[in-house]
Amino acid sequence: MSNSPNQMSVNLDSCVAELRQQFPAAAVMTGDDIPQRNLQDTSYLPAVRPLAVVRPDSPEGVAEAMRICTAHGVAVVPQGGLTGLAGGGHPVEGAVMISLERFSGIEELDADAATITVRAGTPLEVIQRAADEAGFFIALDLGARGSCQIGGNLSTNAGGNRVIRYGMAKEMVLGLEYVLPDGTLVTGLNKMLKNNAGYDLKQLFLGSEGTLGIITRAVLRLHPRPGCTHAALCGVESYEDVVRLLGAARRGLGPMLSAFEVMWPDYWHAATVTVKGIRAPIEGAHGFYVLVEMQGLDEVVDGDRFMAWIEQAFEDGIIADAAVSQSMADVASFWRTRDAAAEFGTVLGPHCAFDIGLPVRSMDAFADACRARLAAEIPNSLSVYYGHIGDGNLHIVALSMGAPVQPGTAISDIVYATVREFGGTISAEHGIGLLKKPYLHYTRTRQELALMRRLKRALDPGNLLNPGKVVDLVESESQ
Ligand code: LAC
Ligand code: ZN
Repeated sequence: MSNSPNQMSVNLDSCVAELRQQFPAAAVMTGDDIPQRNLQDTSYLPAVRPLAVVRPDSPEGVAEAMRICTAHGVAVVPQGGLTGLAGGGHPVEGAVMISLERFSGIEELDADAATITVRAGTPLEVIQRAADEAGFFIALDLGARGSCQIGGNLSTNAGGNRVIRYGMAKEMVLGLEYVLPDGTLVTGLNKMLKNNAGYDLKQLFLGSEGTLGIITRAVLRLHPRPGCTHAALCGVESYEDVVRLLGAARRGLGPMLSAFEVMWPDYWHAATVTVKGIRAPIEGAHGFYVLVEMQGLDEVVDGDRFMAWIEQAFEDGIIADAAVSQSMADVASFWRTRDAAAEFGTVLGPHCAFDIGLPVRSMDAFADACRARLAAEIPNSLSVYYGHIGDGNLHIVALSMGAPVQPGTAISDIVYATVREFGGTISAEHGIGLLKKPYLHYTRTRQELALMRRLKRALDPGNLLNPGKVVDLVESESQ
């Protein structure tokens, strides 16, 4: 920001004073009153104490808070559940955080339209449960379901576990309401599947990580609740066979294929040995562990079909071993080996988490190259590989074991240079935030970056909304 420190403090004080005037005392927190949880997200960036946290309980309140901050030249950072891994919701010094936590809940479930209208601060799991109770299914699912909020999920265009069948978060959005940096509230709560009336404006706010607007409400598409869910945890010996299994699943299960998750042995060890209380569904050592899930219509017909498909994969020599679910409890226990990734922060300590995208065929060659380079350059390097391979999305958790401070930049430099070499994307689903900004040009062209800047300047000429995230306004060597 260009203001001198003096002018700045006057603006900050008057901004807080006006926020206090307009909002009840409990909705505005400053200084030491700001709870620890608002000071950082899940990116392991050092905690930052912002100027204030405002917690409006209505879209109009969000618009009002935004308008006040803009009038005083004070930056705003939108905050949801703070489960982001890229730093998109991380506080900025001197900024006001607008937290959506008090604007939570489901406004309407329309069974005929098959839509659900939700407030941005609603935890994903609450929406999943409401859909389920009404006989529907919400396509988005990810490990942080209990604490992430739908506003954050949508503003980052989250991916998650069932993209192979239903697409990314933006695919489920029919209508959206958001607040622009000048404080304008734009309400477009469309429920129709088809609506080609002019520009599809909502797309600008899905995946731009709160840099163009703050999402306040959304109309989400519902799907019928699956009649049955079956899963298998397979041991596969070679990566070639993993790719064959994916092809076989697409052909044999068709649109019922709802997840295809692959875990490398280093991940498997961390998830089933280092994380306590996770039972490995299959015994023995394998080259790869693959979780295949199918959502069908009929328990008997589709259960038999799934079993026949697995048997065929055995006969064809694609899988070496498999546990096949007999109940929903089995399905849940298979998923626990995959959801164990959420515990890595606790058992491995601070680490770097990656969500790169690559052509499916190159994943294992990439993992080998990346692991070797990290081992050569990072002291006591540990890196584990897993992910939504059916979506071309590989996760890496990497760290220097025992290091008091993680060499985050050195690790990222190695991983992203390798991604670039393999022709991948630096972010498949978590977004750019702060952590990946220096590498955005590995994945986007100069022209794409210039257009991002033009959009940002057009909507946020003062650079006050989530400043410094995703793309720098000034072209630099790296952007
Ligand atoms: C996962 C998160 C990290 O898939 O995206 O586990
Ligand atoms: Zn993921």
